[in-house]
Amino acid sequence: MENASIGVIGVTGFVGRYLARSLAQKGYRVVGFSRAGKGVCEGVAEWRSSQDLDFSGLHGLVNLAGERIDQRWTEANRVKFAESRVCITQQIVKQLSAMEVGQRPKVWINASAVGFYGDRGDELLPESSTAGAGYLADLCVDWEKATAGVDQLGVRCVMVRIGMVLGRGGMAWDRLKRVFSLGGGARLGSGRQWMPWIHVEDLVAGIIFSIETQTLSGSVNGVAPHPERNADFTKKLASALRRPAIFVAPGFALRLVFGEFGDFLLGGQRCVPHAWIHAGMSFRYPRLEDALTDLV
Ligand SMILES: NC(=O)c1ccc[n+]([C@@H]2O[C@H](COP(=O)([O-])OP(=O)(O)OC[C@H]3O[C@@H](n4cnc5c(N)ncnc54)[C@H](OP(=O)(O)O)[C@@H]3O)[C@@H](O)[C@H]2O)c1
Repeated sequence: MENASIGVIGVTGFVGRYLARSLAQKGYRVVGFSRAGKGVCEGVAEWRSSQDLDFSGLHGLVNLAGERIDQRWTEANRVKFAESRVCITQQIVKQLSAMEVGQRPKVWINASAVGFYGDRGDELLPESSTAGAGYLADLCVDWEKATAGVDQLGVRCVMVRIGMVLGRGGMAWDRLKRVFSLGGGARLGSGRQWMPWIHVEDLVAGIIFSIETQTLSGSVNGVAPHPERNADFTKKLASALRRPAIFVAPGFALRLVFGEFGDFLLGGQRCVPHAWIHAGMSFRYPRLEDALTDLV
């Protein structure tokens, strides 16, 4: 695969930047796609527009585009959430089908999210689990369904249901670290909800593993093997930062501040990455303590 070109849509984002650097370090040639058609990202050898979606010369494609969902879920924002996920995915399929057989990328990794499962209590959730209920679950179902038909085009497609990604420069980690460092760390609601998380280096390794593993296709859970309940996550993070976390953020306050996104924070998914593990992937940070030691 030395020098094979991989296109990355959404390369300017948090995960995209880590991915571009890792792909380049492994000898891939990275073609970055962004709405601006250009940018500055370590590892990107060539820029293209994510509006034109010119996939010529690519061995593989990774789509990480997505408007941030940690905003109020207003009607206007819901349109942006869907357009940047479902519509872009549909456009990718259209573009791939318009290409000549033999010229198409061989593999396509598309982002999805653990929101697919909805709020599922203590149920263990491998990839074979059904979709859940609610706005985010419906959005993720539509996002994944938008890849339909790509198999017939001879393109292997892997959809990565991503959990909360922990890494420097990422929204989740930067916010958590700031709040907990100030002693404001708090359990969310009952704290019993499961938090599927993953270290950004493992997510990027998993995406590259999915590109390189011919037997993988369909949905995979992009999470660490050991999810944590919110209360345990809170305790472990506070202890790693040597700060107290004595507060509880009540559900009503989260709903008041974040709207429906607050409900998402109060729900949880006990996801496990069966597909990656069965295919032979190993995790550098399987347990939260390992990830926190690295990040702190
Ligand atoms: N980070 C997490 O914890 C997490 C968890 C679950 C799922 N995910 C999913 O994983 C993917 C990557 O996450 P990330 O944290 O790297 O996201 P990010 O930092 O917000 O970057 C996403 C990229 O998507 C492109 N984008 C944003 N809004 C867009 C729009 N309205 N139309 C077209 N493109 C748009 C942007 O690229 P340009 O501005 O260059 O076009 C942006 O750099 C996303 O799909 C996200 O939903 C992430």
